[in-house]
Amino acid sequence: MKICTIIGARPQFVKAAVVSAEFAKRKDVKEVIIHTGQHYDPEMSEIFFRELNVPHEKYNLEAGSGTHGRQTGRMLEKLEEILLQENPDMVLVYGDTNSTLAGALCASKLHIPIAHVEAGMRSFNRRMPEEINRIVADHLSTVNFCSTQTAMKNLKADNLGKSAVLVGDVMYDCALRFLELAEKRCDPLKRLSLKKKKYSLLTCHRAENTDDKKRLTEIIKAVNKISQDTTVVYPVHPRTVNFIKKYKLSVSEKVMMIKPVGYLEMILLEKNASAIITDSGGVQKEAFFYRVPCITMRDETEWVETAKLGWNRITGADSAKIVKAFADFAGTRPTKTGARPYGNGDAAAKITKALAKV
Ligand code: UD1
Ligand code: UDP
Repeated sequence: MKICTIIGARPQFVKAAVVSAEFAKRKDVKEVIIHTGQHYDPEMSEIFFRELNVPHEKYNLEAGSGTHGRQTGRMLEKLEEILLQENPDMVLVYGDTNSTLAGALCASKLHIPIAHVEAGMRSFNRRMPEEINRIVADHLSTVNFCSTQTAMKNLKADNLGKSAVLVGDVMYDCALRFLELAEKRCDPLKRLSLKKKKYSLLTCHRAENTDDKKRLTEIIKAVNKISQDTTVVYPVHPRTVNFIKKYKLSVSEKVMMIKPVGYLEMILLEKNASAIITDSGGVQKEAFFYRVPCITMRDETEWVETAKLGWNRITGADSAKIVKAFADFAGTRPTKTGARPYGNGDAAAKITKALAKV
């Protein structure tokens, strides 16, 4: 079976690391990687291929940055030509970015079956670009691989139950598989002079927060306040760098702003933090995998299990709520630690097995 995998954004390189490794083990699966070029800075793209041994792409669409229409349109135009040439049995897409949307849309028009990994997630907030991308990708896909029971229910509610397969979360596979390698290969605590459980980790990049001056101002206000009493390490997404400049926001000198880090450094920074403050989907999950209290600066979460099990507090972009959640929550150990809503770390193997049968 020939599979064309379409990836283009940071979290997709992480997810592909475990699935592509499973494909490589099988003689009956041939994978062709297509990189859309949505992310292109070395620290947003190349580092993941190198560190996590993701097979390099055969094609790079070089779509780059731009408005949604322009970015997605550039991908579609080039992708169509390549898919016609490669004529795969299946197109594989991950998650909910514009690369996911372009991949699913293009394949469906060419009548190529689509597999969607991390399908069925919903925030029920259609103002999020990710929500639109997910809904479209789920509806166009032949097989929807779900991370959670919640995702299965969401697909059933959308009349897509027949396409849904529960496999667990591939990011949980990654969190388990790469930890040992990370510990051998790097030491971000030493590099940044941090002490275990004596700092907090921050990430913020979602459009709903960065593109809204009021929300980003509230977030920076909270972070500046928190950084008065604790070290805050902040690997900054390039999108947020741009908006901090645009809105002329001033981030306290006490906040340790650094360039985005590779996955291996990131998981060690996460595991050893006393708390994580984020608006990232992947980082919320990783906080839960490593059992670190997480404060999510969004109005809702798709990863509802992390909150239900006591490890994630949803504060929105309200500075008082963020500061209070941090004061109450950092360094604590919620009691419900045993549950495994994201599977057993074998999602990639299950996906591969299911696809080989299609
Ligand atoms: C995208 C996804 C988001 C995901 C995130 C992961 C969509 C709609 N959004 O958001 O769901 O959580 O990736 O990180 O697909 N930029 C650079 N260098 C890069 C990449 C981006 O400087 O390598 C800057 C550009 O100014 C660009 C901005 O970041 O305009 C946003 O990039 P874009 O790919 O459009 O969306 P993300 O915010 O990264
Ligand atoms: N990540 C990383 N370095 C960073 C920030 C994030 O390696 O500086 C990893 C993180 O560990 C997770 C993934 O990138 O595996 C999440 O990506 P992101 O937060 O950009 O997107 P989202 O998950 O919100 O779509």
